[in-house]
Amino acid sequence: MKRESRNAKGARVVGLGSAAPEGVMTNFDLEKMVETSDEWIRARTGIRERRIADEKTATSDLSYLAARKAMEAAGVSARELDGIIVATATPDMLFPATACLLQDRLGARNVAAFDLEAGCSGFIYGMAIGDGMIAAGLGETILVVGADTLSKVTDWDDRGTCVLLADGAGAIVLKPSNGPSGILSTHLASDGSLGPLLCQPAGGSRRPATTETVQEGLHYLKMKGNEVFKYAVRAMEDSTNRALKMAGLESKDVDLLVPHQANYRIIEATAKRVGVPMERVCTNIDRYGNTSAASIPLALDEALKAGRVGEGDIIAMVAFGAGFTWGAAIVRW
Ligand SMILES: CC(C)(COP(=O)(O)OP(=O)(O)OC[C@H]1O[C@@H](n2cnc3c(N)ncnc32)[C@H](O)[C@@H]1OP(=O)(O)O)[C@@H](O)C(=O)NCCC(=O)NCCS
Repeated sequence: MKRESRNAKGARVVGLGSAAPEGVMTNFDLEKMVETSDEWIRARTGIRERRIADEKTATSDLSYLAARKAMEAAGVSARELDGIIVATATPDMLFPATACLLQDRLGARNVAAFDLEAGCSGFIYGMAIGDGMIAAGLGETILVVGADTLSKVTDWDDRGTCVLLADGAGAIVLKPSNGPSGILSTHLASDGSLGPLLCQPAGGSRRPATTETVQEGLHYLKMKGNEVFKYAVRAMEDSTNRALKMAGLESKDVDLLVPHQANYRIIEATAKRVGVPMERVCTNIDRYGNTSAASIPLALDEALKAGRVGEGDIIAMVAFGAGFTWGAAIVRW
């Protein structure tokens, strides 16, 4: 599946917010759990610490905190929302949708609410769908959340994955664009043949949860990290270039590149191939690890608060994740 779109009407981001659990897990904490070292993790991934949710906190809880902040920044009340999209691979339950739990908690009424599962690319997918809903006249005010609690599906004995994964949420409010600022282009793609390289094998309808699947640890996230790495860089480069081209822009026009935060080396390699210098790249993986669908809005929110984003700036966002899925969005702030 490949979908490329250029905005007919288009949406713009009118509010942004993010949330992360308070609990910090450092590389030194992980040294006590698996055979690894702070030095290895920092050198191979760029991560120093990450936020991990406590037992009582689920994806909808972090989604709610991020959504409230985004709505406050946008000056939008729950009653004004027409749609809620939650991009997540770790919903509270398989059903009802986490978006419906959020709708209820926010007190939104007469609102379309659904989950979107595109792994770590979920936020870009959600933004593209929210943009499309506005362009199609399906609503005027759409809340898009990217949220995951990967720690809940992490095998804490698997050093190949447990050092990477973390929890967080980010949210944006979209409204019709009535000026030059807005989502200029989006590019979405997927390749399901590569799905087994990054998956949660049991707990769905193919292999429902049984005592055996739990004993075999098949409810945990499984990943062939070095294989994923190769595809991630190529796909993120390609997607950014396609989205830029659709927007009639080039890499030199990018004021800020906000890539999915999976591995510092992936970010560096992608930026180099796209042609954006690292001083124009947004990274916070050192403090947050891989928060999946939350990573782009978490990083963008930090950049915004640090004054790195000005009106009219061109922001390129790009992600890659389970599916495989990948995608990019070009936004004029
Ligand atoms: C997982 C990842 C960090 C591993 O780094 P890498 O440089 O590819 O390392 P490899 O997997 O080739 O492993 C190299 C060695 O380190 C070891 N190793 C793996 N994890 C380790 C850890 N946490 N601590 C210490 N050693 C570790 C391996 O066992 C291997 O040892 P060997 O050479 O004796 O067999 C990296 O592949 C990665 O980030 N991949 C992409 C992950 C990703 O983006 N996933 C999500 C997509 S949304």
